[in-house]
Amino acid sequence: MVDIDNLFDRLWALFRRMNPQAEAIHQLLAESGEVILNDHIAFRTFDDPRVDIDFLARPFLNAGYLPQGEYEFPNKHLVARHFEHSDPQRPKIFISQLKLRDMSERLQEKVTGFIDQILPETYERDDFCAMGRPWDIDYTTYEQLVQESEYAGWLSAFGFCANHFTVLVNKLSTIDKLEDLNEFLKSNGFELNSAGGEIKGSPEEYLEQSSTLAAEIDVPFADGLHRIPSCYYEFARRYQLPDGKTFPGFITQSADKIFESTDRRKT
Ligand code: NI
Repeated sequence: MVDIDNLFDRLWALFRRMNPQAEAIHQLLAESGEVILNDHIAFRTFDDPRVDIDFLARPFLNAGYLPQGEYEFPNKHLVARHFEHSDPQRPKIFISQLKLRDMSERLQEKVTGFIDQILPETYERDDFCAMGRPWDIDYTTYEQLVQESEYAGWLSAFGFCANHFTVLVNKLSTIDKLEDLNEFLKSNGFELNSAGGEIKGSPEEYLEQSSTLAAEIDVPFADGLHRIPSCYYEFARRYQLPDGKTFPGFITQSADKIFESTDRRKT
């Protein structure tokens, strides 16, 4: 049996190391007396059956999570699924995967080569989704991949970890609107992803989301350290459906733009 709380702790520990901003925002909110509840934790992977959504979802399914919505992002060649636990205190799990067959042969070969480097016993690990990058990659390869797909580049550089944690704004006691949280963050010097507007979605769609821009960190490549965008922190405000239940799903159009939080900045 997976110790899911331990897995979440490990994911958070890795995430805050990769994203010092998240730690700072978390502290800032804690200082204003907030107890933070996560709406969802998001993962990225490739659709190679050795590491695909079904594989990454295993520890969550074993801990009682059930598959819910399915999503498609044709422009980015991604599909995604989200999983929910009957305990509403547990974050939803959102896992996307890149459709390798849509990519160039060169990219497919590189990625297959990465996955070939994973040792068989590694697949037995309960914390596979929190292990980071289990392969070697040099910076030139990263640059080639990221030109074809920002998602493929990011995933090849960072491997398996939480791409983002998401604060559930509904559960904050001192801030009600997502707009107010955004202002609060900006006034404290944090940069938000403004692709498609700072707030993605609307009350009419029952979900509003915003996110920081991924912080740049030094990542060890086979040929030394290079500074690239890492993880980001997301904020979600959910609304009630006409039947009184809180909307539990995701909005494809909003998520599509949020994926871009890890894009390299065009200067
Ligand atoms: Ni998200």
